[in-house]
Amino acid sequence: MSTEPKDQATLLTDWTALEPGRSVTLRAHSSLHKGDYECAVLDRTADRLRVSMPMENGKLVLVPVGTIVSVEGRTPAGIVSVRAQVVDRRSGRERSLLLGPEPKPPEYLQARSGPALCRTIAVTSGKGGVGKTALAVNLGVALAALGRRVCVVDADLGTANVDVLLNMTPRWNLSHVISGEKNIFDVLVQGPRGLVVLPGGSGLQELTALDDRRFGKLLAQFHQLERFVDVMLLDTGSGLAKSVTNFVHAADETILVTTPEPHAITDAYALIKVASQRPGPLRLRLVVNRAQDEGEARDIARKMSFASRKFLDTELDYLGWVVEDAAVGRAIRRQQDLLTAAPRSRAAGCVQAIAAALHRELSGEDGAAFADAEAEVRPSFLHRIRRLFAR
Ligand SMILES: Nc1ncnc2c1ncn2[C@@H]1O[C@H](COP(=O)(O)OP(=O)(O)OP(=O)(O)O)[C@@H](O)[C@H]1O
Ligand SMILES: [Mg+2]
Repeated sequence: MSTEPKDQATLLTDWTALEPGRSVTLRAHSSLHKGDYECAVLDRTADRLRVSMPMENGKLVLVPVGTIVSVEGRTPAGIVSVRAQVVDRRSGRERSLLLGPEPKPPEYLQARSGPALCRTIAVTSGKGGVGKTALAVNLGVALAALGRRVCVVDADLGTANVDVLLNMTPRWNLSHVISGEKNIFDVLVQGPRGLVVLPGGSGLQELTALDDRRFGKLLAQFHQLERFVDVMLLDTGSGLAKSVTNFVHAADETILVTTPEPHAITDAYALIKVASQRPGPLRLRLVVNRAQDEGEARDIARKMSFASRKFLDTELDYLGWVVEDAAVGRAIRRQQDLLTAAPRSRAAGCVQAIAAALHRELSGEDGAAFADAEAEVRPSFLHRIRRLFAR
């Protein structure tokens, strides 16, 4: 009697029907490993599935721990089709891949159906205290209100305080993801209007110390997050230190914040100078914060763009401005975002105008700014960050 499926229409979504010896097809959801691999089931429990190591052309395929995979196999009871996560890789005589259940994203996240294309935008400045964190948070909320899925990453390695601005008390941060204690979804905190915050801690700096295996695991988790996010806004520190400029180079683009104050302008210019000395693509956009009116902001932008082009051979695009408005400070003291605390304030209007411009670009309505073919071939943000911090 054949043991082949009687009813192929039955789809099983757990792996307990896969008895040892069954052959399964494993597909890794990662940019590193493309294709289907035939593996044999070695053993399984309700929450673990051990399969033989995938091979390709006689060579082992080292799928990193953390990678999400699809497993398909035919059994007498029907077709098993499950998503799982690589939780361990064993070598030696026990050589095998250990799979566990795929981590469940929080309910408030919505997965995208198409390919992951998440823009990373660094928010930075030459001088401290010019309003980066306030802009990153309020811009994030304004973009979220327009329907974008936004994650604000607290990447300020000195004084991370996105959580303070939004009255959050995150228990975990990226360091716990890196150490393997937590999954990236456990660390996320839900903000206003669907905004998501990833508390950074010292996590992003620890990347350099990671061996390839642990980096692969983290990368896999970031890829998972990218399925749920259109824009990642990185609130960075200020100044010319590498811990800041690395983000400028790793991000797809950078919003450089200055105020009309001469010191802030010269420090912003110094940052452009340092950034422009490194090879690699650089997309810089200026936001003038705390301006009296748009005329003042445009005047500063014009002068800075001119100097930057003439002396540093670097383009600096004007993105927008935010008016000097006591509502910003009041919102911060109330630990609320500006759209919630003062939706009709002038500053909220300015932030919404910047968000609308970015939103149009993301939709491809506004030229080719976001449609660079380069995105396809460029290494991922985390790869770039790791390489830069390793120097
Ligand atoms: N448009 C504005 N109008 C009035 N005050 C503002 C405005 N933007 C920012 N501020 C004030 O500037 C202060 C500093 O803002 P914020 O913490 O966002 O700066 P930062 O650049 O992130 O600082 P740091 O370099 O320390 O990270 C805030 O407490 C707020 O009161
Ligand atoms: Mg800040």
